[in-house]
Amino acid sequence: MPRIHLLPSDLVNQIAAGEVVERPASAVKELIENAIDAGATTIDVLLEAGGRKRIEIRDNGSGMSEDDALLALERHATSKIANFSDLTRVRTLGFRGEALPSIASVSRFTLITSDTNTGAATEIECDPLTGQRTSRPSARDRGTTISVRELFENVPARRKFLRSPDAEFRSIVTVVASYALPLPSRAFRLEHNGRLVLDLPPAVNARERALQILGSEAREHLADFDAQIGAARAYGFVTRNLRFGSKRNQYFFVNGRLVKDRVLSHAANRACEAFDFDGHPGIVLFLEIDPELVDVNVHPAKTEVRFRDSSQVHVAVEQAIKRALGGAEEGATLIRDAPQAPLANQHSALSTQHSAPSTQHPSLFPPNRYDSGPRWTPEFTPLFQREALVQPPLGNTLAETRTTSVLEEEPQLGDLQGRVIGQYRMSYILVDMPGGLRLVDQHVAHERVLYDRYLARVEARDPVSQTLLTPILYESGAAECAALESHLAELREVGFDIERFSGNSFAIASVPPELLRTDIDSFLRKVIDASLEEKSSHLTHVRERITASLACQAAIKVHRPLGGEEMARLVAELLRSSNPFACPHGRPIIVDIKHLDIERHFHRK
Ligand SMILES: Nc1ncnc2c1ncn2[C@@H]1O[C@H](COP(=O)(O)OP(=O)(O)OP(=O)(O)O)[C@@H](O)[C@H]1O
Ligand SMILES: [Mg+2]
Repeated sequence: MPRIHLLPSDLVNQIAAGEVVERPASAVKELIENAIDAGATTIDVLLEAGGRKRIEIRDNGSGMSEDDALLALERHATSKIANFSDLTRVRTLGFRGEALPSIASVSRFTLITSDTNTGAATEIECDPLTGQRTSRPSARDRGTTISVRELFENVPARRKFLRSPDAEFRSIVTVVASYALPLPSRAFRLEHNGRLVLDLPPAVNARERALQILGSEAREHLADFDAQIGAARAYGFVTRNLRFGSKRNQYFFVNGRLVKDRVLSHAANRACEAFDFDGHPGIVLFLEIDPELVDVNVHPAKTEVRFRDSSQVHVAVEQAIKRALGGAEEGATLIRDAPQAPLANQHSALSTQHSAPSTQHPSLFPPNRYDSGPRWTPEFTPLFQREALVQPPLGNTLAETRTTSVLEEEPQLGDLQGRVIGQYRMSYILVDMPGGLRLVDQHVAHERVLYDRYLARVEARDPVSQTLLTPILYESGAAECAALESHLAELREVGFDIERFSGNSFAIASVPPELLRTDIDSFLRKVIDASLEEKSSHLTHVRERITASLACQAAIKVHRPLGGEEMARLVAELLRSSNPFACPHGRPIIVDIKHLDIERHFHRK
């Protein structure tokens, strides 16, 4: 075995960097934490290419003297703790003294800092290869600017695993937005490629800051909670009657530190499950607990904690949130009404101003959904039609001109001379086929038809849009805004005319004609959900996802009565689609029940 030797310090730092700095967002996290610990009231983050090319953090905190700044770049150098008992009572975000040397070992790192108001400052440049630090006089006001360029340039294995600049950027937006939550009086700004993308001026209180992050649509839904159980105080906000498609709007802080903690998220979500809604509420939870009762030194990235008494914490959080949501009894009244079957006379024509429930579509293919279109007159579903309504895509005349090979392409469809005989449970179209009874799920069938249609438009670069009489303003949260902005090109490809308007809002002037005005919000929210959870960001993948979720949103819903003509046209279009058997998400569209089986069941065969 080779002789044992001590590793050189630059290698030690690079090893530590492996745990502390996983990606640009983790470098941003460490640098923001340092600025917060230094008492900064204004923190600016500037990025290029999602932080892969450059991350710069400017703060107006305490700054450092030249000696301190040189020392700060040494491993295990910290101003935050001095002995073991400090470690058990740590109140600062940092304490390990390894963030700066770790980041400096895997990037081109420069620091400019000043601890005076004279304008005199120190600049230190680090060489990632030799670990050498060069210090020279510089100029700036009190505070610190740290610039990290070409992260992981010298660690190709790491660089390879970075996501696209857009995806890295979105993670950073979440980091910046999260750190702003417990510190409402401090200003945070984030610039990406020279554009200001997040501007959080000082807010008057935690609630207003939470609304800056969650989006103002949460205003009327935001319930406060505050409960003290034993040594733990759990307070914050939870959205009532406003749920999101993922847990992305759930933030948990322990003594001001953003954490990913199973105890907290389990307790919070259990409280919410008591209120039987779909989706996940927005939660901003601050847990204040005696630092001696929680170990923050569990992982180098410090995103995990260990509670001495996790059951007490669980109870405090669960009860606080349950109470905010209205308590067990009141909770029952919060449960959303089940979607009501629309009565014939409830149908009203859609107008641009008025938003109709999504179950009430005037017709499958309205000439114009947003202008004063024709009034919808209820049509009774003909239970028994005399004529075959489902016409095969190939009529007799066409059959002569086309060869049989065309027919062979769709052998499974059987004889297409089916006859729509009605609608089952306002959700399934019944088709009398020569071979038996066919059930077609109206929602997924329409989803398939629309998906094909949208994809064809995208591929032909020929988006079709419907101009709205009055543009819609879509208000999003801070992190969501960045996510949505990174998908504007794909949204335009499917027919949206959408622009960033001001702050976190977007102006939508036109939409794909099939999309109802009432469905626009929920579609955009789905795009954001998917985007924030997106790991890979392969372009065609993003396109397909957006197209599929647009088709799903715009497709007629279940529990909606359809007219005979509508059903027939839908089935005919379905049969012409690229795959009449499965929707873009893979769900089956058609179920066939063989006539023979029906006959056998009645002992006729
Ligand atoms: N923006 C800043 N303003 C003032 N001082 C800073 C700043 N950033 C770092 N420092 C000083 O440099 C020291 C080293 O920073 P570093 O992030 O490496 O370690 P830490 O914050 O003490 O611990 P951790 O590794 O847990 O983050 C800090 O203890 C602090 O004194
Ligand atoms: Mg630190």
